[in-house]
Amino acid sequence: MTGRERAVAEDPAVYMAENRRQWESWTPRKAASARSGLDGFRRGGVRVHRVERDEVGDVSGRTLLHLQSHMGVRTLSWARLGARVTGVDFSAEGTATARSLARAIAPSARFVCANVYDLPEHLDGTFDVVYMSHGTLGWLPDLGRWAEIVARFTAPGGRFHLFEAHPTAWLFDQRADARELCARHGYFSPGEPLRWRYRRPHAAPGTDADGWEYCWGHGMGAIVTSLVAAGLAIGHLHERPFVAWPMFPFLEQRDDGWWHLPDDIPSVPLSFSLMAHKPL
Ligand SMILES: C[S@@+](CC[C@H](N)C(=O)[O-])C[C@H]1O[C@@H](n2cnc3c(N)ncnc32)[C@H](O)[C@@H]1O
Repeated sequence: MTGRERAVAEDPAVYMAENRRQWESWTPRKAASARSGLDGFRRGGVRVHRVERDEVGDVSGRTLLHLQSHMGVRTLSWARLGARVTGVDFSAEGTATARSLARAIAPSARFVCANVYDLPEHLDGTFDVVYMSHGTLGWLPDLGRWAEIVARFTAPGGRFHLFEAHPTAWLFDQRADARELCARHGYFSPGEPLRWRYRRPHAAPGTDADGWEYCWGHGMGAIVTSLVAAGLAIGHLHERPFVAWPMFPFLEQRDDGWWHLPDDIPSVPLSFSLMAHKPL
């Protein structure tokens, strides 16, 4: 990554279209670089972290909707744990990879190619569990509308689970030469996205993709308040000193699979998990 700056204000749809174009280009490269990983996953295994499994609880026989399901690996992991899964992603490449994996793993899994904001035009019904994780919220410009979509698809008595990078973590310099936590960006977003230039995107590790992506910063208060305003009741919000990917070059991956700060750097929350319920 070479840095980020605030973009000129445009219709968010313009930025989302550009992001989608980037995901269409990154995803096949990522699938190729992760091919042995995908082959291994086809043979078996569950790629959701233990802490997520513990928080979401038993999903056997439950319907589960995974928003921004990418190549479907986590969606199909929930299927292996017994859920009846539906994944949604606006990338046709990601959806095609997910459908191909599903043929070998869970033929009844559904994958819908759609922008999260347009989902009511593509999908009916409600789900026992709605799930999102690890690199999702920052792609969404409008939290209020997002929370309405989440609430729309959560069944009465059902739950929504989100595991995501912590808004505080986005304040710090992520450049490849960063050696410590150095606050570089503001917490409060004026509405325009931040424009990021990547040479080697996190989204496609091991590849030399070059391009721009547009992300929106969302504070913790805005995330929680949007869900409450949409009619969901917050069950818990846990802040965590680790994150699911090497967000900073100096993070260390430990035996638990998560990326942690070295011991000599003061702790800050790097991720959070949130559970919300839709009242009956
Ligand atoms: C970092 S990946 C998420 C990883 C994913 N949670 C997983 O389980 O592997 C982000 C995904 O969000 C998708 N995406 C971004 N903006 C979206 C939108 N507005 N609607 C639907 N999908 C979107 C991208 O295509 C990409 O697959």
